[in-house]
Amino acid sequence: MSQPAIDLGPTAQAAVAEALNQCVAETVVATMLAQNFHWNVTGMSFGPLHELFQKIYEDHFEAQDDLAERIKAIGMHAEGQLATMLERSKVKEADGHQDHREMIELMMRAQETLAATLASTGSLAAEHGDTLTEDLAIERGRTHEKFAWMLRAHLKH
Ligand SMILES: [Fe+2]
Repeated sequence: MSQPAIDLGPTAQAAVAEALNQCVAETVVATMLAQNFHWNVTGMSFGPLHELFQKIYEDHFEAQDDLAERIKAIGMHAEGQLATMLERSKVKEADGHQDHREMIELMMRAQETLAATLASTGSLAAEHGDTLTEDLAIERGRTHEKFAWMLRAHLKH
């Protein structure tokens, strides 16, 4: 029988919280990246890209909160400092001076990185018997893969 994550024990809680804090950090950096590109994208595809980047940052903004509040639900500390997030995140910021094709590529890579981070968080949560974190991580991972596909489709001829 599975038990509430708050009773999983300190080792499991710490491991799952660490993985989730990584997810939050990368989601936050990707949120800013998407908003940066939403503002600064140029070219003939301005309209749809401006909208797609908005869709991404709105999705990610909500996800930051869901992931961070899951950390609280399992009784741990949600790291909320930008400096720490930037340091640990495998998704990196950009200056926003890229052309639209480079923006699409950078955002696609960011989504792929996030999908990988979320997938490994799901596996780790499963190892520790935390089914509900596993579920959240899987759902988020799938969303990132969907965005990665949408962006990838722009680069095909
Ligand atoms: Fe806007």
